[in-house]
Amino acid sequence: MSGTERRFFTTPIYYASGEPHIGHAYTTILTDVLARFQRQDGKDVFFLTGTDEHGQKIQDEAEKRGVEPIELCDLMAERFEEAWKTLSISYDRFIRTTEDEHKAVVTAFLQRLWERDQIYEGTYSGWYCVSDERYWTEKDIGDDRCCQVCGREVTYVEEKNYFFKMSEWQDALIKQIEDNPEWIVPEVRKNEILGFLRQPLGDLSISRPKSRLSWGIDLPFDTDHVAYVWVDALINYLTASGAIDPSQPTDQQGFDDVTASWWPADMHLVGKDILTTHSVYWPTLLMGVGLPIPRQILAHGWWVVGDTKMSKSLGNVVDPLALRETFGTDAVRWYLMREMPTGGDASYTPERFLTRYDELSNVLGNLASRAISMISKYREGVVPDAESDGLNAAIDQALADARASMDDLKVHEAFAAAMDLARAANVYVEERQPWAQAKDADQAASLDETLATLARVLVVLCALFQPVAPEKMHELANRLGLEGVPTLDEAVTVGLAGQTVTPGSPLFPRVDPGWTADAE
Ligand code: MSP
Repeated sequence: MSGTERRFFTTPIYYASGEPHIGHAYTTILTDVLARFQRQDGKDVFFLTGTDEHGQKIQDEAEKRGVEPIELCDLMAERFEEAWKTLSISYDRFIRTTEDEHKAVVTAFLQRLWERDQIYEGTYSGWYCVSDERYWTEKDIGDDRCCQVCGREVTYVEEKNYFFKMSEWQDALIKQIEDNPEWIVPEVRKNEILGFLRQPLGDLSISRPKSRLSWGIDLPFDTDHVAYVWVDALINYLTASGAIDPSQPTDQQGFDDVTASWWPADMHLVGKDILTTHSVYWPTLLMGVGLPIPRQILAHGWWVVGDTKMSKSLGNVVDPLALRETFGTDAVRWYLMREMPTGGDASYTPERFLTRYDELSNVLGNLASRAISMISKYREGVVPDAESDGLNAAIDQALADARASMDDLKVHEAFAAAMDLARAANVYVEERQPWAQAKDADQAASLDETLATLARVLVVLCALFQPVAPEKMHELANRLGLEGVPTLDEAVTVGLAGQTVTPGSPLFPRVDPGWTADAE
C-alpha cells in the first residue's frame, strides 16, 4: 500500500423491511459527500453501505406479504441499490447481512467473545418493541406501555438469553469519551451519551430464542438461539473492512492484528436515533473481543415537517426525493446538504428548496454560462494564455474554508464557502466588465486576463462542488475541455491556456415545478 492517507466511511445498514426514504437518503448522501470530498482531496477512500436483513421486523414483514424473508430482502436490497444509483452515491461496497461472508464473521466474533468469557446465560423478562428491535424496562414504558422511540405498543416477553458483559466496559468507555472530545460529534450528542453513562450500564442481551425468532444467525455455542439483530448488524462494518478471516483457525483470524485491513472505520455516520447502539454497544463489543474501536461517530439530526420526523410520504407535502425528477439529482443533494446544519435538525419546506435552487442557478450556473459564452464569443472558445490570478485570494480562502469546515464536519459551511467563491467571481465580472473590454482594442490584454481568470475559477469551483453536485460538475469539466473533474490540488495547478471550451444549455435551468413558493 502506498503512503496515501486512507479513510473508511460507513452509513448505517438500512432495514430491508421497507422502501428507501428521505431519512435513509440524507444519511447516505451526507456520507457520499464526505467520501467524495476526501477523494477530491487526494485520499484513498472506502465507502460502505448496505442492508440489515435479519430480525423480527423482517420476519414479520415477510410473513405479512406472504413471502420468504430472503425474497423480501432480495427485493429491498435491489431497491436500495437502485435508489443509490439515482442519487449518484459512490459507495465502494454494498453489504447484505445475509451474505455467507458476514454470517461467518459474526459467528467468529461471537465465538471469540465466548472464549474470552464475555458472555453468560441468563433470563430476560421485560418489554420488547419489535419495530425498534429493543427491550424496554417497566419504568421506561410508563402507563401507556409504548416504545420510547417509536411510540408503538410493546409486548411482554420472558425468555432465556445470552448476555454480553457490557457493564465491565463502562469505565473504559467513559474514559474513551472524556479523553477524546471529538469522538462523538456533535457535542450535544456526546453529552447525552455521557449522561446516559452516569447510570450503571447493564449487560446486553445478544440472543433471541429460535422458538420466537428463527430469521437470524445461529449462536456458535447454542444453535437454539440466533444473534440479536443489532449485534449482527453492527458487525457488518468489521466484515466489510476485511479484517477478519473466519476460514482460519481461531488464533489466526485477524483479531490480533488489523493493519492489513480497512479496520478501524474512520467514521460511522448515523442518525441521532441510533447513536446509543453505535457509541455504547458497538465499542464495548469491540473492546470485548480486543479490537480497536472506530475513530469517530457523527450523529446527524432529522428532517422534520412541523413536529414530525419525515420518513414515509407525508400527505400533501412535496417529497424532496420526488423533486429530483424536476430539478435533477444534484439539486436535491445540494438542498439536503446546504440547508441542514450538519448535526442539527432541519425543517423541510418546498419554499426553502426553491431558494436553495435559485442559488445554484443564479450564482454558480449563471457564472459558468456567462464565462464560457464570453470565452466563446470574444476568443473563439480558446482560453487565452494570460495571467489568471485575478481571483487568487478568493480561491485560497474558499479552499482553506472548505477544507476546515469539512474537517469540522460542517458540510453546510464548506459549501457556503464554495458558493461565496462563485459570488466573488460574479462580482469580478461586474467590476471588469469584459463586454466593455471587448469593445476597446487597447484592452485586449486585460480582457485576456479576465477570461483566463474566470476559466481558472471555474475549474476550482468544479472541484469544490463535485462532492455535492457530481453530475453537473462532470458536465462542467467537459465543457471546460477537461477529461474529468480535477482534485482540489490539481484544480489550482492545471493549465487551461489554449484549451477549448464548449458552451451548452444552463447547468441549472429555470424550471416550473408546477407549484409556487411563497415568500420566505
Ligand atoms: N438497521 C438499522 C441500522 C443498523 S446499523 C448497524 C436502522 N435502519 S433504518 O432503516 O431505520 O435507517 C436508519 C437511518 O435513517 C438512521 O441513520 C436514521 O437517523 C435515518 N433516518 C430515518 N428518518 C430520518 C429523518 N426523517 N431524517 C434524517 N434521518 C432519519 O436503524
